[in-house]
Amino acid sequence: MKMINHHHRHTGVSLLVSLLLASPFAVAVEYKDHTFSAGDASLQHWLLPAVPVPADNALNADRIALGKQLFFDPRLSGDSNMSCATCHNPLFGWSDGLPTAKGSKSMVLGRASPTVINTAYNTLQMWDGRKKSLEDQAMGPMMSNQEMNMNIPKLLDFLQKTPDYSASFNKAYPGEAISEVTIAKAIASFERTVLSNDSQFDRWIKGDKNAMTAQQVNGFKLFVNPDKGNCAVCHSAPNFTDNGFHNIGLASFGGATPDVGRFAEKPLKLMKGAFKTPTLRDITLTAPYFHDGSASTLEQVVDHYVQGGEVKTNLAPNLKSLTLSSNEKADLVAFMRALTSDHPAFVLPVLPH
Ligand code: HEC
Ligand code: HEC
Repeated sequence: MKMINHHHRHTGVSLLVSLLLASPFAVAVEYKDHTFSAGDASLQHWLLPAVPVPADNALNADRIALGKQLFFDPRLSGDSNMSCATCHNPLFGWSDGLPTAKGSKSMVLGRASPTVINTAYNTLQMWDGRKKSLEDQAMGPMMSNQEMNMNIPKLLDFLQKTPDYSASFNKAYPGEAISEVTIAKAIASFERTVLSNDSQFDRWIKGDKNAMTAQQVNGFKLFVNPDKGNCAVCHSAPNFTDNGFHNIGLASFGGATPDVGRFAEKPLKLMKGAFKTPTLRDITLTAPYFHDGSASTLEQVVDHYVQGGEVKTNLAPNLKSLTLSSNEKADLVAFMRALTSDHPAFVLPVLPH
């Protein structure tokens, strides 16, 4: 613990810690090896692999369809007025367009609703990583009195007494009861289909040289260049996240009782005020930004990084002020705009009776 407190000194341990948390050297090497031409072999690790699926919850159409109904069904909440989609709404990039979430009885909650897009690739869920998987996460919001304010007996009773639901559970998980386990598995199965993997950037990586503009290609170079944007040190390939936790110096960390983020789970000094690196895929759909919703636009996000964070106590070692011209800042934003996929109009599920 002691040595982590002194991470700025170049001890062997501190080097190891920074390697584990986010690997600056990998980015430097990656940058040198890049040729930055569409389809180049050195860039292929930016393409997302197939979605990882746990051995005990194989994906199939019945599970996905059931999970989709559960995700959109307000009858899973205590007051029958809130579903997962209230805060993770496809019309708002699977978030809610709010600085921080609005919970039960319009209570304003402490953190922003993250998108569900590409959460299938997260190694830990939630801003502080307190949930290990989508299955592990799914019952939490239903049981929270600040969110869907439901209770298990009432929930199971409703699902068992709704004939279309009991038939769908039977088909999706034959031989298993309707339970917290199967409800969570179905919801997680649906979430594994909420993906962004066909953006302009993906098409450019695959070799379509017209998929990104020259400005966007330059923005990508700045994004990975450790001497310029240095963004990819944390927003790394392929999902633009290292699945790590960092304090990026938001103004809210300077408050009297700041949200300590990851520190609540891992009480290491470096983790105080550290939050999970979010994906940047589909980022144009999910403003406002940061766990506290403090940036309304991508331009404001870039300005935050240029000044190297606002509150500089306990800042992540990789967070440094940047030297970027106004053209370069615009290029970075233009690049982030290339990360949004074209999605066909989302078809809402028909809810069971
Ligand atoms: C009242 C708004 C609200 C509702 C309703 C809600 N969520 Fe969330 N969701 C949030 C917030 C806020 C967080 C982040 C909380 C935190 O990190 O402490 C979150 C986090 C998540 C995450 C983690 C994403 C990540 O990148 O780490 C997933 C997955 C998720 N919710 C799925 C669901 C599902 C499934 C439901 C329904 C069963 C649901 N949510 C209902 C607001 C909501
Ligand atoms: C030290 C690691 C680190 C570096 C370097 C970094 N980020 Fe981040 N980024 C994060 C973390 C962690 C968050 C979430 C912080 C929070 O909300 O408390 C984040 C949030 C964001 C968000 C908001 C995402 C959302 O869904 O709310 C954007 C956009 C973003 N970063 C872009 C960039 C760009 C562009 C750069 C380079 C100029 C960059 N980041 C450099 C770690 C980093």
